[in-house]
Amino acid sequence: MRADAAGTVRDALIAAGARGLLVADENCPPALLAGLPPGTRVLSNRWDLCVAARDCGLEVSFSDFALPATADLELIACRVPKERAVVRHLINRAWHALAPGGRLLLWGGKHTGIKTHGKEAASAFGGAPEVRKLGTDYLAVATRTGATLHSLDDADYEVLRPLLAYGARVLFTKPGLFGWDQIDPGSALLAAQLPGIFAAGGAPARLLDLGCGYGYLSVAAHAHGADADAVTATDTCAAALLACAKNFAAHGIAGEVVPSDCADGIAEHFDLVLCNPPFHRGFAADQELCARFFRAAASHLHRAGRALFVTHRVVPAAALAQGVFRSCEQIAATPSFQVHLLQGPRRAPLT
Ligand SMILES: C[S@@+](CC[C@H](N)C(=O)[O-])C[C@H]1O[C@@H](n2cnc3c(N)ncnc32)[C@H](O)[C@@H]1O
Repeated sequence: MRADAAGTVRDALIAAGARGLLVADENCPPALLAGLPPGTRVLSNRWDLCVAARDCGLEVSFSDFALPATADLELIACRVPKERAVVRHLINRAWHALAPGGRLLLWGGKHTGIKTHGKEAASAFGGAPEVRKLGTDYLAVATRTGATLHSLDDADYEVLRPLLAYGARVLFTKPGLFGWDQIDPGSALLAAQLPGIFAAGGAPARLLDLGCGYGYLSVAAHAHGADADAVTATDTCAAALLACAKNFAAHGIAGEVVPSDCADGIAEHFDLVLCNPPFHRGFAADQELCARFFRAAASHLHRAGRALFVTHRVVPAAALAQGVFRSCEQIAATPSFQVHLLQGPRRAPLT
């Protein structure tokens, strides 16, 4: 049987035992988690993957790529993330986590920039690039040989910066977050509907920002009259949660910022759900993920509650809402985006 990259990584992690670490972001194949022996160490920036890994008996930590600076690991493996700043941050942090002679394994398809990332990892670690094709992916191996790290420019990945604004309200963001360097026009279109929605039905007593990112929609809702403690914001991404918490603190929003997989584990029902759902997972389009957000919104609304969803025009929002909400009305549209007001949730029971 021909070796593939994920299988090679799995075997290397098994061989490294407690001195191995899988770094799992949204591009990590779920089958890899299922193929690892219980007790294997996994660090993920995604709450949904942490839950999946825990269910497989793996030893999980949830953080924004905060690898330990313990210099004692033999192996770190990661399917290459989408953002260059994240990859470079990971390479820098991996050097501090690995023992001398330890190896960083990165893998991914040609379109992920894996060859460039492999070269950069080798130059940071002070060795020669080692990249080979295994199945449809490429595997890059960098060995910690040099005594010093030739640190890569990761655009200060860890630092949240006051880069954007909602009106006079400054918003902290950083590379890797959705719409991090420019307010997403879809989110802005949704926010522009809030004054009309609040005028018609009053500001919501309880509001859920589903897939909150750095909290743009929550800040907008607060700016238009939602109470400081009315908001619960949730996301699966550790960096998004940190940024959202920072923006809540900056604007006196006392609401909760909760990690979840599509609001799983949030038992409360809300008057209003605001959502700009993802329709990509890593490098791939994922309509089922988008559909889950519609179902999650319905499950988390009071019977008289409403949801506002903004989607790209290519997303069949009305079809995704069908069977989940009794009413789905398009209330705004641009050539690229559409906002739907969803009412009459047909709730699946909360788990
Ligand atoms: C299109 S972005 C919208 C972000 C933010 N609401 C805004 O308007 O700027 C979608 C968000 O959903 C989050 N997300 C993706 N999968 C998720 C899941 N399974 N559970 C919760 N959040 C998820 C992403 O991390 C991302 O922050």
